Amino acid sequence: MNTADNAVEMRSISKSFNGVPVLKDVSFDIRKGEVHALAGGNGAGKSTLMKVLQGVYQADAGEVLIDGKPTLITSIQDAKAAGIGMVFQEFSLVPSLTVAQNIFLAAEPLGSAGLIDDRAAVRRAREVFAEMEVSVDPQAEVSRLGTAYWQLTEIAKALSQNAQVLIMDEPTASLARHESEALFELIDRLKQRGISIIYISHRMDEVYRLADRITILRDGTRLLTEPLANVTPEQIVEGIVGKKIEGGLAYRERVSVAHEGAPLLEVRGLNAGKRVQDVSFSLQPGEILGLAGLMGSGRTELARALFGIDRRDSGDILIRGERASLNSPQQAIDAGIALIPEDRRAQGLVLDHSVRDNLLLPLLGQIKRGPLLDSTKGKDLSSSLIKKFAVKVAHPQRPVRLLSGGNQQKVVIAKWLGTDPDILILDEPTAGVDIGTKSEILEMIRELASAGKAVIVISSEYPELLAVSDRVLVLKDGSVIRDIPRSDIADEEYLQLAVQGV
Ligand SMILES: Nc1ncnc2c1ncn2[C@@H]1O[C@H](COP(=O)(O)OP(=O)(O)OP(=O)(O)O)[C@@H](O)[C@H]1O
Ligand SMILES: [Mg+2]
Repeated sequence: MNTADNAVEMRSISKSFNGVPVLKDVSFDIRKGEVHALAGGNGAGKSTLMKVLQGVYQADAGEVLIDGKPTLITSIQDAKAAGIGMVFQEFSLVPSLTVAQNIFLAAEPLGSAGLIDDRAAVRRAREVFAEMEVSVDPQAEVSRLGTAYWQLTEIAKALSQNAQVLIMDEPTASLARHESEALFELIDRLKQRGISIIYISHRMDEVYRLADRITILRDGTRLLTEPLANVTPEQIVEGIVGKKIEGGLAYRERVSVAHEGAPLLEVRGLNAGKRVQDVSFSLQPGEILGLAGLMGSGRTELARALFGIDRRDSGDILIRGERASLNSPQQAIDAGIALIPEDRRAQGLVLDHSVRDNLLLPLLGQIKRGPLLDSTKGKDLSSSLIKKFAVKVAHPQRPVRLLSGGNQQKVVIAKWLGTDPDILILDEPTAGVDIGTKSEILEMIRELASAGKAVIVISSEYPELLAVSDRVLVLKDGSVIRDIPRSDIADEEYLQLAVQGV
């Protein structure tokens, strides 16, 4: 392969933070018109490598070649000038501006008097969206649009700045299934136009659907770069995790569900806002209930109503046969309920606080000694949680924001499980975690149920729902349309049809 066919070549990149090496002699290249998957466990260094390419971080050693020419990238501006565009996981748009204004924010077309020419911006934005073959209204205010449109706006922004290489870091994490499919089709079209895409994802099906080659990082070193056709999914998983994983995604019937006696949780005719309509179900100790449904079907809203975040309009919630008044999260926590929210970064963590403080937040009651906090107990508790959940952090006192995305998620999960709840609600528990951790989380969910807890799992990934649920409740427009025992669900397709209301 001739170097000139490479849109980007990163040679022997090394990077340390405070003396801790995060990237060790990593080489990575991407050809023109290629989709190159970048895979690896949580904390392997994927985002860091891409931040070096984007000029956010400076490598300690190594060089970057663009179109075969050594290029110094010391800022995001340098990266843009070199044709590198990024579709951020945390979007960089200004919500109060329109789509067109956002696209041309840094480089507005100037009118005759040197003012921002809104009409020209709208016209140019229309052209970019037409080239992308997607329909987005350039005059819509960004805050009114869903995540899928934010992402399209980000992509349009990069393309309008002539990006030749697009970095997508877990782009489907916040998309519904059909939106992901639309993104994949857009990626196919961009590829045909010779645009190169670096695609970071923990989802194997996406990697196979899109990528020409894959590079796997493990603990900051490159393990392999291969055409997808040369590696099996098992080899990839083993490469990422460092060992074979067993059982995580296969359903195993557990005998722990207590079919006799009062349900641990019973919901009767619950109404809360528009998205929770007359919902009734009950949950036995030891039982795992899966909630399936499309985006907007009311799964998250049901979880919020149960946890006392959203106001209940009518209906009853009974815990062990007794009516519970769950009018605030505190009341829910006191009643033994925990909710691991979907939007973990925003709702679950204080990013500037240490890993330890975040873990101890819901446990303050347990570590009180009179009016003071027992710091030894706090240290022990947090260390045991870090160990149990294999959170990759140099020191418990480090701020959570310095952890990799997946490790931040582990902190939220560890934090809530530390409260030892009886009823546990998990909203998309494995979003953003690597495949090894994913199977560990699923196993943990089973263990909690086996210990007599009642668990509700919300997931958009059908294999995951099928791997743990004893029953699946299908929601549509806020109502329960099906309540199916796991044994009646033959396969993923059956569940998919049920979700579509067929
Ligand atoms: N600014 C920073 N300061 C200190 N350590 C950092 C910083 N940025 C990243 N790290 C550390 O570098 C390592 C690699 O992080 P990175 O975000 O690149 O992982 P990743 O492969 O993207 O993981 P994930 O799949 O969880 O997103 C992690 O251990 C992380 O804590
Ligand atoms: Mg990352």
